Amino acid sequence: MLILNKTAGVFSKPSKRNMYEFLRSFNFHSGKLFLHKLVLGIETSCDDTAAAVVDETGNVLGEAIHSQTEVHLKTGGIIPPVAQQLHRENIQRIVQDALSASKVSPSELSAIATTIKPGLALSLGVGLSFSLQLVDQLKKPFIPIHHMEAHALTIRLTNKVEFPFLVLLISGGHCLLALVRGVSDFLLLGKSLDIAPGDMLDKVARRLSLIKHPECSTMSGGKAIEHLAKQGNKLHFDFKPPMQRARNCDFSFSGLHHVIDKMIMQKEKEEGIEKGQILSSAADIAAAVQHTIACHIAKRTHRAILFCKQRDLLCQSNAVLVVSGGVASNLYIRKALEIVTDATQCTLLCPPPRLCTDNGIMIA
Ligand code: KG4
Ligand code: ZN
Repeated sequence: MLILNKTAGVFSKPSKRNMYEFLRSFNFHSGKLFLHKLVLGIETSCDDTAAAVVDETGNVLGEAIHSQTEVHLKTGGIIPPVAQQLHRENIQRIVQDALSASKVSPSELSAIATTIKPGLALSLGVGLSFSLQLVDQLKKPFIPIHHMEAHALTIRLTNKVEFPFLVLLISGGHCLLALVRGVSDFLLLGKSLDIAPGDMLDKVARRLSLIKHPECSTMSGGKAIEHLAKQGNKLHFDFKPPMQRARNCDFSFSGLHHVIDKMIMQKEKEEGIEKGQILSSAADIAAAVQHTIACHIAKRTHRAILFCKQRDLLCQSNAVLVVSGGVASNLYIRKALEIVTDATQCTLLCPPPRLCTDNGIMIA
């Protein structure tokens, strides 16, 4: 295989010549015989550049991912043009790595599937223009993918889950509860009215300056909160779960975020420290925040399960709740959801952590 022409950012304005060079770097006549259809999945909706090749039976033949987390941690959040530039710099290499790992040449692909929404417009654009150029050159079918639907269906790669099932997606950009009735048949039961739980955790972690904490400096906000919470006492702070009286399955996190912000300011005054220094009560705050959002998420999910069962939308005895997204890797939140599923005779399923967060496999 030839070395790729390393022209960073070529796919901002795709040129036929660049794509031709990209395709030429593969050996088109590998002599292998693939009995299954092969799909290349490409994901660039937020801050991960990811690609994978999956066959029609769900076998993952190869994957590659480039995470931008470290860069965005330093700037205190995702700056869309920065994310776009990093996608441009990495997409060609990531797609090539996924194809190489799978030992599949582009000509052997049956289709190219790419996230088209929802997400950051600048990020989505990089994956889309790269894919459309590839599709044009290879004369392959293009499959537009809804990022949330892909998250919801990923569990079917690892577990035999029949429709309908309930899905809870909780991450930095998403928060929704939906009934999955078929591959493209979703009933939205609830969503966040403002920000997503991961976004809130990231903001609280930034406000607590956890990046300066020696044990948390490379962790995402949510992971840092989970880590510190283990050392704290959740009872030292009393934050109320949001929307306790709302008779629906929606979520809200920005009111709680505001209350936590005010509490942090008050504690800084009490401890006589400046914003940017780490509070001695940071672990207690982390434990209370984690507990409060776990309660909120569990209560809204409980309502959704009861609603579906009352209306016979879910199986009475063997219903499945799938939980995915970066926040679903939080073991305390999982435990809270387990209490709900145990009480309602449901089965709780979570994809393995690497499939919970954004990846190319779910798109393929
Ligand atoms: O699904 P994901 O990788 O990206 C999208 O947002 O789509 O999720 C990232 C989010 C971040 O907000 C991060 O703080 C949160 O998931 N997260 C966690 C944990 N690990 C990552 N939140 C709580 N507990 C964790 N262990
Ligand atoms: Zn996602």
